[in-house]
Amino acid sequence: MKDKRLLITGGAGFIGSHVVRLFVNKYPEYQIYNLDKLTYAGNLENIADIQDAGNYEFIKGDIVDRSTVSTVFKDLNIDHVIHLAAESHVDRSIEDPMAFIETNIIGTMNLLDAARESWNADDGHLFYHVSTDEVYGSLGKDDKFLESTPYDPQSPYSASKASSDHLVRAYHNTYGLSVVISNCSNNYGSHQFPEKLIPLAINNIKNQQKIPIYGKGENIRDWLFVEDHAEAIDTIFHNGQKGETYNVGGNNEWTNIGLIQLLCSIMDTKLGRKDGESAELISFVKDRAGHDLRYAIDSSKLQSQLGWNPSLKFEEGLEKTVDWYLANDEWMSGVTSGSYKKYYEKQYGASE
Ligand code: NAD
Ligand code: TYD
Repeated sequence: MKDKRLLITGGAGFIGSHVVRLFVNKYPEYQIYNLDKLTYAGNLENIADIQDAGNYEFIKGDIVDRSTVSTVFKDLNIDHVIHLAAESHVDRSIEDPMAFIETNIIGTMNLLDAARESWNADDGHLFYHVSTDEVYGSLGKDDKFLESTPYDPQSPYSASKASSDHLVRAYHNTYGLSVVISNCSNNYGSHQFPEKLIPLAINNIKNQQKIPIYGKGENIRDWLFVEDHAEAIDTIFHNGQKGETYNVGGNNEWTNIGLIQLLCSIMDTKLGRKDGESAELISFVKDRAGHDLRYAIDSSKLQSQLGWNPSLKFEEGLEKTVDWYLANDEWMSGVTSGSYKKYYEKQYGASE
C-alpha cells in the first residue's frame, strides 16, 4: 500500500472518532477524509482536537446517497476505506428498522460499488469493513464466537450488519475487491452516545436518576476499551490478510448487573457518596424484545497472527471512562439536548 488517501466513514461517531484521531496523529503522511452524515449519534465535538490537522478533512454526507459516495471517490481519489458509518443501537432498530436497512445495507453497498468502479483489483487498495460480534447471534453458557461461527443475527440491527458483511464478502468473491472484515464485541470509553448501557448509566448515576436494567440483568457482554479497538483496527488495516475476517474482543465477560454494580461502586468513590448509595438507583425494567443472552469473542486469531492484545484491564478502563464523563459535562449536556429527552421518555418513561 503506497499511496494512502484514506476514507473513514462514521468518524464523528463513538468508535470512528477514536479511529480518526489515531490515524490522523499516528500517520501524518496519510490524507484522511472523514465522511459522516452527522446523525443524532455523530458529533464534531468528538474530534474537535484534530479538526485543523493538515492531513485531515471532514465531509458531511450520507452514504445512502449514491451520487455523494461516487463523487467522494472520484474527486478525492480514495485509495482505501475504513467503513464504520452505521446505525448502531439495537433498541432503535427494534422501534424503527428502516434506517438500519438503508444505512447499514444500502450505504455499505454504495461504498462497495464506488470502490469497485474506482479501483483496479491489483492496485493495492483495501476496503476495511468494521462489524460486530452480534452477527453470530446469542451464545449459551460456555462457548465463544470464532470467525467460523455461522451467522445467526437476532435483532434488526445485527441482521443489517450481517447483511453488510455478506455483501462485503460477495464483492470480494465476485469482483475480486480487496476487503478485510473485523467483528468486535461491545466497546466502552469516552464519547459514546448515552443510549448505550455504560454512558447512560454513568449519566443517570451522576444525576441521581434510576438505572434501567433490562430483565434480570443476567445477560452477558464482552467489553473492550474503545482505544484498544482502534488499535486493533490499525493493526488489521496494515497487516490483515485480504479476504480474511478477524474477531476482536476483550476476553472480559460481565453480566449487566455485575457491571452496573462495579460502576456504582466506582462512582460512589468518585462522587464522594457512601458505599452502596448509587446502587440504590438500580431499577429492573421490561426486558428488550429478543434480548441476546450472551456474547463472548475468541480473538486468538488476531492475537496470534497479528500480535494485537487489549491493553487495559476492565476496572482500569471503566475508571478512566467515568473520569472522562465526569470531566465532560458540557459534552453530555450537548448530546442530551435536542431529541434525546424524547427518545429517553419513549424508551424508559418519564424520568423522575
Ligand atoms: P455510532 O452510532 O456512535 O456512530 C455512527 C456514526 O455513523 C455517526 O457519526 C453517524 O453520524 C454516522 N452515520 C450514521 N448513518 C450515516 C449515513 N447514512 N451516512 C454517513 N454517516 C452516517 O456507532 P459506533 O458505536 O461508533 O459504531 C461504529 C461502527 O462499529 C458501526 O459499524 C458498528 O456496527 C460497529 N461496532 C460497534 C460496536 C459498539 O460497541 N459500539 C461494537 C462492534 C462494532
Ligand atoms: P447496549 O449498550 O445497548 O449494547 P448491545 O445491545 O449492542 O449489547 O446494551 C448492553 C447490554 O445492556 C445489553 O444486554 C442490553 C442491556 N441494557 C440494559 O439493561 N439497560 C439499558 O438501558 C440499555 C441501553 C442496555
